[in-house]
Amino acid sequence: MAALGRSRRSCLAVPGSSVKMLGKAQGLPADQVFLDLEDAVAPLAKPEARKNIVAALNEGEWAGKTRVVRVNDLTTPWTYRDVIEIVEGAGASLDCIMLPKVQSAAHVEWLDLTLTQLEKSLGLPVGGIGIEAQIENAAGLVNVDAIAAASPRVETIIFGPADFMASINMKSLVVGALIPSYPGDPYHYILMRILMAARMHDKQAIDGPYLQIKDVDGFTEVARRSAALGFDGKWVLHPGQIDAANEVYSPAQSDYDHAELILDAYDYYTSEQGGRLGAVMLGDEMIDEASRKMALVISAKGRAAGMTRTTAFTPPA
Ligand code: GLV
Ligand code: MG
Repeated sequence: MAALGRSRRSCLAVPGSSVKMLGKAQGLPADQVFLDLEDAVAPLAKPEARKNIVAALNEGEWAGKTRVVRVNDLTTPWTYRDVIEIVEGAGASLDCIMLPKVQSAAHVEWLDLTLTQLEKSLGLPVGGIGIEAQIENAAGLVNVDAIAAASPRVETIIFGPADFMASINMKSLVVGALIPSYPGDPYHYILMRILMAARMHDKQAIDGPYLQIKDVDGFTEVARRSAALGFDGKWVLHPGQIDAANEVYSPAQSDYDHAELILDAYDYYTSEQGGRLGAVMLGDEMIDEASRKMALVISAKGRAAGMTRTTAFTPPA
């Protein structure tokens, strides 16, 4: 399975133009925050937002959260200055740069080289700042394998549904919602395509925003779909969505307990003492090496979420 790395069940968007929200976000239970310089910040507010973000990263108390800054995309005039100001100002207090609307490996390579230069000139560990690549149009999706492989810095591949829907002329205004006139899930192919690239290159797959921020049930329904496929987390735009994301992208307690039980049981039965068996019964269930691999996924997600098991394996007397 893909290494989970940093926990990112909930990735909270915080506009860099709002000093108030940059302060409030620090006390919220999101796994990740991303401080936004892109679409949540008006062009005229971008220079000040850069300064707000540098101050918030340096002076804030982020309490173990993954700290990310979303810069503007490479078709705009702002990207290079975003990256330089943020990394020069707060590179030591930053985990990743998020690059939106990535269209090719070259976009990631540009960011990788720029970060390397900055890290060298600032005396920061080279490669220390990760990259999150947002897929938001057809070019990005078609090139997603190359994008995922473009730099070892890439930690996540993120679906940006709102921009994506606009870019392919999708006939809907409600991000993530099923479309009554289409007899299926219109996002299935896109999500799976991103997930395959992420898993092939050992990256995390992150689902994008749900814009009806007061509708937590709607958020949960959309989140459950990508979680069922294997996505690691989802953006949250409002504090009310955080608990739902943390729950949906963590295993259920009973699944976590069962996974740990399978791992212990399989460990025992494959051992000398347990009889060197490759396929055994655990209760009514046959378990083998593939069961162990599935259990490893659930167990890793549970451990990353800080879960504690409530059952133990007892070898037969
Ligand atoms: C996020 O950036 C989106 O476009 O959905
Ligand atoms: Mg977008």
